[in-house]
Amino acid sequence: MLLKSCCVYSMGVFSLLLLILGISLVLSTVFPHFIQAVVKKEVVLKNGTDAFEAWRDPPAPIYMQFYFFNVTNPLEVLDGERPAVVEIGPYTYREYRPMEEVNFQDNGTKVAAVNTKTYIFQRNMSRGPESDLIRTVNVPAMTVMKRFKDHPILANLIAAYMRSSGEGLFTTRTVGELLWGYEDALLKALKVFRPELDDVFGLFYKSNASNDGQYVFSTGAQSYKDFARVESWNGESSLNWWTSDQCNMINGTNGASFHPIISKNELLYMFSSDMCRSLYAEYEDDVTVKGIPGYRFSPPSKVFANHTVNPDNAGFCVPAGNCLGSGVLNVSTCKQGAPIIMSSPHFYEGDENFVQGVFGMNPNKEEHQTVIDVHPLTGIILQAAKRLQINAFVEKIPTFNLTANVKTVVFPIVYLNESVVIDDASAKKLQSVVVMANVVENVPFMLIGLGIILGGVFMLLMCRQTVPESTVAERQPLLTS
Ligand SMILES: *[C@@H]1O[C@H](CO)[C@@H](O)[C@H](O)[C@H]1NC(C)=O
Ligand SMILES: *[C@@H]1O[C@H](CO)[C@@H](O)[C@H](O)[C@H]1NC(C)=O
Ligand SMILES: *[C@@H]1O[C@H](CO)[C@@H](O)[C@H](O)[C@H]1NC(C)=O
Ligand SMILES: *[C@@H]1O[C@H](CO)[C@@H](O)[C@H](O)[C@H]1NC(C)=O
Ligand SMILES: *[C@@H]1O[C@H](CO)[C@@H](O)[C@H](O)[C@H]1NC(C)=O
Ligand SMILES: *[C@@H]1O[C@H](CO)[C@@H](O)[C@H](O)[C@H]1NC(C)=O
Ligand SMILES: *[C@@H]1O[C@H](CO)[C@@H](O)[C@H](O)[C@H]1NC(C)=O
Repeated sequence: MLLKSCCVYSMGVFSLLLLILGISLVLSTVFPHFIQAVVKKEVVLKNGTDAFEAWRDPPAPIYMQFYFFNVTNPLEVLDGERPAVVEIGPYTYREYRPMEEVNFQDNGTKVAAVNTKTYIFQRNMSRGPESDLIRTVNVPAMTVMKRFKDHPILANLIAAYMRSSGEGLFTTRTVGELLWGYEDALLKALKVFRPELDDVFGLFYKSNASNDGQYVFSTGAQSYKDFARVESWNGESSLNWWTSDQCNMINGTNGASFHPIISKNELLYMFSSDMCRSLYAEYEDDVTVKGIPGYRFSPPSKVFANHTVNPDNAGFCVPAGNCLGSGVLNVSTCKQGAPIIMSSPHFYEGDENFVQGVFGMNPNKEEHQTVIDVHPLTGIILQAAKRLQINAFVEKIPTFNLTANVKTVVFPIVYLNESVVIDDASAKKLQSVVVMANVVENVPFMLIGLGIILGGVFMLLMCRQTVPESTVAERQPLLTS
């Protein structure tokens, strides 16, 4: 009897200790900190780590899809009417983007590399072949007219050439030509006078099997927050296209990797050389991709807002003070002087003027928003879609009769959707990390649970010990009556 109660009392003490231990572990967050410390140590760009391998050669298939806008009323546009377009696509390419010429520097705190991108057409994921014809704005002609409008002799020659050759404001070319380049007769003719001009034009001319220059990344060895952050691009640590230092900053990663331990209230910065600028994404929602929980980040409308809504963006008005409105970016200086304007597809979250300016625009969040779904603990991308529209700025150009009646419009040419979903092998690996982290994080709660169960058993035993047998017997009839 004495031995039995001694046993019961130690059980009570033990359950109390378990409760105290469990609760103090929960409060001290030792276990989550332990997991974070392990992750911080693993997610570094160092030869041999999984993070380095995934950065060097992304395992998940990346697809680049193009949706063109086919112009249906070219003659009416020349007469000053609103352009009408039909979206045609997708034309899908598999994108390979390994890091090459990888070179560690500064004791492994930095790594230099070029990001070579190769595009392979996927006929079975496309609407038609690359030989499909698209009628769109004649960008070389627009560029040349704008560039030489104040040069009387050349301007006359250009106008005469365009009249005689039948070239105009619009051109009909194949998908392959528009993307990867074609020899333009006007540019070729001009080359006689301006040998420095390239006579080939394409929206992604020279982008296949090539790179956009050397990057130097931070490896994250010093601080996990710096993982894969762009330190410099082509030897420069900032840009020079924009008119404020803030807008010229190169912020964050290249958008293909993110640091681990991402919280809901932080901003994910990234630099995109296609967009010629840095931007950020903020937390929007919880998501689940292939069974793995993650956070959805997306650039808020503020990022592309006009300078009255977001004064930080004043520096994106070029030339200084010449602001176009929300949702569009004049990237002319970053695209060899071509009158190119970047926006979200269908001017999603852009000024209503742009949407109304072209018949056929139908912006919606689902298809046109840029999203990045990350696994917050490891920073691994579960799913992402970068969406961007390339437009031409079409306006009346004095000295060219051809454009005399044209209304000023930001004219959509094509939009792209560059997307990726985590591959099954990586998802499986990540899944086991998620499970392990869950188990470890729940150890204190398991202790508390055990403490509660033992405490319950202890109390039960205590009650049974103190309640005399007779009371139990007396109560019996009460229950039945
Ligand atoms: C990584 O290590 C492997 C084998 O040790 C070596 O062949 C390779 O060159 C290293 N890579 C870099 C970028 O240093
Ligand atoms: C498309 O074709 C490629 C081979 O060219 C194949 O690997 C891929 O699985 C196909 N995709 C679909 C959706 O059929
Ligand atoms: C685009 O429009 C042109 C001119 O109307 C037409 O010839 C062409 O077939 C259209 N392209 C597609 C892919 O429908
Ligand atoms: C890109 O380059 C690769 C290799 O040089 C080639 O196989 C592929 O067809 C090219 N893609 C395009 C769209 O030209
Ligand atoms: C770059 O980051 C700084 C804060 O670190 C911010 O003030 C600036 O606006 C950012 N620039 C761009 C272009 O995102
Ligand atoms: C875009 O920027 C270029 C270069 O600064 C400038 O010449 C052009 O007029 C700008 N376009 C618009 C529509 O403001
Ligand atoms: C900036 O955008 C806001 C909201 O879309 C609009 O009300 C305002 O007129 C715009 N300002 C300029 C200068 O375009």
